[in-house]
Amino acid sequence: MSASTALGRGDLPDAWDSGDAAGIDPEHDRRVEELKPAGAGVAAFYDRAARGIAGAPDLAELKERHTRLLGRERGIVTGRLAGLPELSPEERRQSGRALNLIKRWLTELEAARRSALEREQESRSAQGLDVTLPGRKPWIGHRHVLAQIQEELLDLFHGLGYSVYVSPEVESDDYNFGKLNFPPDHPARDAHDTYWVDGGLLLRTHTSPGWVRAMEERQPPLRLVFPGRVFRAEQVDASHMDQFHQVDGLFVDRDVSMADLKATLNTFARSIYGRAVRTRLVPVYFPFVEPGAQLDVACVICDGSGRVRDARCPVCKGGGWIELLGAGMVHPNVFRAVGYDPEAVTGFAFGMGLERIAMMRWGIPEIRLFLENDLRFLNQF
Ligand code: DAH
Repeated sequence: MSASTALGRGDLPDAWDSGDAAGIDPEHDRRVEELKPAGAGVAAFYDRAARGIAGAPDLAELKERHTRLLGRERGIVTGRLAGLPELSPEERRQSGRALNLIKRWLTELEAARRSALEREQESRSAQGLDVTLPGRKPWIGHRHVLAQIQEELLDLFHGLGYSVYVSPEVESDDYNFGKLNFPPDHPARDAHDTYWVDGGLLLRTHTSPGWVRAMEERQPPLRLVFPGRVFRAEQVDASHMDQFHQVDGLFVDRDVSMADLKATLNTFARSIYGRAVRTRLVPVYFPFVEPGAQLDVACVICDGSGRVRDARCPVCKGGGWIELLGAGMVHPNVFRAVGYDPEAVTGFAFGMGLERIAMMRWGIPEIRLFLENDLRFLNQF
C-alpha cells in the first residue's frame, strides 16, 4: 500500500483494543487474516478499528468512533478511499479491495453494536421505576344505564313472583302479529313499522310474542316477564330509534282481574318514580288485550302542572301526564291461539319501553344517547 493509502494500528487510540470484536463478529479473526496480503499494517488497523466499534461504551461514543473511521468529511477510511485514484493501477486494485472490505465490515459491526446498545437502553428504562409518580387508577367499567334499569325492573317483578322468559329477536309474522290477534291487513300492524327478514321472518317489533311462546309451552298459572331488544323501521329523531328495549309482563291464572293489573302497575310506578307519584289508566286499543289501557304518570318534570317557570313544560308538552306503558286483560283470541280455554283462565299483560322509563326518570332529552356509548353520558349513571 502506498503512502497515501497506507494504514496502521497507530492511526487509532490504544484504548480501542479493549473491545471484543470476535464477540459480535464470529468472522473477525478470519477477516483480519484476509486483510494481511494487503499489508500487516492494514490488518492491524482493521483489528483495532473493529475492537473500537465493538467496545464503544455507549451510543454517543459509538457515533464518534464511527465518524472517525467512516465519516464523510474526515473519516480515516473515507480519506484513504479518496486517495485511490492517485495510485498505480496495480496498487489501486489491491488497496481498493482491502479498503472496501474494511468499509463494509465496519459498517456491519457498527449497526450490530448500535442495536445492542439501543436494546440495553430500552431495557434499562423499562426497569427504571419511579416510585414518586402518582399511581395509575385502574379503569373500571360499569353496566350500561339500560342494563341497570332492566335489572332493577326484573328485580322488582321477581319480588312479585315473576320469572324471566327469553324469546327470539327474529320472529315469524305469526308470533309477532297473527297469534296476538292482529288480523291480516288490520291497520294496527301499520303502527309497527316492521323490518322484514328473508323467508317471511321479521325483527320483532315488541316483546309481546314472548307470551305466545311461553303459553304454548306451559300451562297456567303463569307469571312471567319478557325483557329484550325490539326493532321498528322508524325515522330516527330525539325520541325515536329503530331499535329499543322493552319488558313485557304476563300474569295468567283463574280469576285475575283488572284490579290486580292496576295494583301491579301502581307498585311498579311507585318503585321507579317514588311513592308520591300519581298515575291513571286510560283506555286505548291494542289487538291482544281487551280492555286495553295505557298507564300515565303525572309528569315528573312539572309535577303534573304542565308548566315550568311560567312556560309550557317541555317534557309533557303542557298536558301534565306522560304515557308510560301499554297494558290490558289478555284477549280471548290470544288464549284460543295458544290452546287455553278463555272461559277457564283470565290474565293481564303489560309492556313498557326501557328508554322511555329512563328518559322520564332522569329527564334525558335524547334517545340516541343510549346507543352512542359516549362515556360522558354513560358515566352519569
Ligand atoms: N306490545 C305493545 C307495543 O309494543 C305494548 C303493550 C301493550 C304490551 C299492551 C302489552 C300490553 O303487554 O298489554 O306497542
